[in-house]
Amino acid sequence: MQLLHSHGSSVSRLLLAGLVLSNSALAVPVQDSPRQYLLAGLDLPPKYTKKAKSPYNPDNKDPLDKAVDAIGDELDPLPYRNGQGASVLGPWNWERSRQSPDLVRPPSTDHGNVNNMRWSFADSHVRIEEGGWTRQTTVRELGSSVDLASVNMRLDKGVIRELHWHKEAEWAYVLDGEVRITAIDYEGGNFMDDLKKGDLWYFPSGVPHSLQGLGENGTEFLLVFDDGNFSEESTFILSDWLAHTPKSVISKNFNLAPEVFDHLPKGEKYIFQGSYPGSLEDEQPSGKNVKKSKYNFSHRMLDQEPKITTGGEVRITDSKNFPISKTIAAAHVTIEPGAIREMHWHPNADEWNFFLRGRGRITIFAAEGTARTFDYVPGDVGIVPRNMGHFVENIGDEPIEMLEVFKADEFRDFSLFQWMGETPKKLVVDHLFKDDPKNGEIFWNKVKSAEKDEVTLPDSAKGIASDSVDEL
Ligand SMILES: *[C@@H]1O[C@H](CO)[C@@H](O)[C@H](O)[C@H]1NC(C)=O
Ligand SMILES: *[C@@H]1O[C@H](CO)[C@@H](O)[C@H](O)[C@H]1NC(C)=O
Ligand SMILES: *[C@@H]1O[C@H](CO)[C@@H](O)[C@H](O)[C@H]1NC(C)=O
Repeated sequence: MQLLHSHGSSVSRLLLAGLVLSNSALAVPVQDSPRQYLLAGLDLPPKYTKKAKSPYNPDNKDPLDKAVDAIGDELDPLPYRNGQGASVLGPWNWERSRQSPDLVRPPSTDHGNVNNMRWSFADSHVRIEEGGWTRQTTVRELGSSVDLASVNMRLDKGVIRELHWHKEAEWAYVLDGEVRITAIDYEGGNFMDDLKKGDLWYFPSGVPHSLQGLGENGTEFLLVFDDGNFSEESTFILSDWLAHTPKSVISKNFNLAPEVFDHLPKGEKYIFQGSYPGSLEDEQPSGKNVKKSKYNFSHRMLDQEPKITTGGEVRITDSKNFPISKTIAAAHVTIEPGAIREMHWHPNADEWNFFLRGRGRITIFAAEGTARTFDYVPGDVGIVPRNMGHFVENIGDEPIEMLEVFKADEFRDFSLFQWMGETPKKLVVDHLFKDDPKNGEIFWNKVKSAEKDEVTLPDSAKGIASDSVDEL
């Protein structure tokens, strides 16, 4: 039996180490470790005193297909399900299967072929530049990401992503730090703004722009482009253009002697250390024909008043409250432990999602009896094709924070719960409870006054037990 990697053995090793080693021997304190309980004179929680039974064993019976938090419970998933399966003999990437417990032992409801819908930015190539780096997830990394592509970029203090443009529109979410953005609009109006964590920008197709890290540590952000085929390597860059234009033409264009351009960069600069800028007022171009843009290319998403649901919060930003963002709609969603982003679908676009925090699983129902479950951790990208039914279940012990992004002007979704409640009772009961009128009545009473509750906390999860291993 392959239980070498199980929770029980690693905990007893940890417990032994904690009892034997002195106070100073463990340089890094382990939060919530048995040793800390003992030092504080507290009783050990049950999970440390009895050998927790791993749900990954040959006798496993789980007709409900409950989620297992393999990372939080330090479990190594094994392919045993309801009395079937066998141990592992060959090579096995334990770290990866911990991140994807529902691939190793899929819920018994999964069936058929559904394309891969998950990619981790950790598997993307990182391009390292002066004072920054960038990595991308496009249709080339994640084949199902046809509508949208994404770039994760870091710019240290004063570091510049060079003046450039591209044919795809660019939507961005600031992950941390501060960033200055500049652009000009179609009528030649100038735009500049300083953004912080949780702020957005949107540059329509072809709008030239630049980005620069501010503050002590600069910035990191997530860019989303409205074409899965986008490549960060193929943007139109100022220095690249000038390096590939005859000097005589540059001289004519700017009406200056060719010698003025003797020291232009020999190729693209892309990401490079710039001089630290002054305030927005100080840096405002002051030529006599400069005019301010009448558009606003930025938006404070996290400053929006959220919709409070029973199990979390939802903020929606689309062209209704961020008018320039005509091709990208987005939602910022938090899902408390034990809660679920309810069963729903999006009628107008594929969902491209990004996990900022927490651990979740999504089952994608693709019609024709097919469904497949994927697990996500921070830094992972997921896709749910348009119209496919899905949910996001928080399987960890901390809130999930995620972005749902769509190539659409408006955010739209259909809630299964609400649909049931707004359908005649007889129809609903005939479909689902034909031979079980008693439970049909219970179900109807629950859904009949349904209101949309995007993130639902079930009663069973209120005061959720912190240790899910013991109850399995
Ligand atoms: C991406 O671009 C390539 C090359 O131009 C093309 O063959 C392919 O069909 C495109 N894929 C998508 C999803 O648009
Ligand atoms: C900048 O980064 C350092 C090192 O990670 C950290 O100690 C410091 O708090 C950061 N400063 C800000 C303003 O976030
Ligand atoms: C753009 O709109 C935001 C509100 O989301 C506001 O805080 C910001 O000052 C505006 N920026 C400009 C440059 O008008």
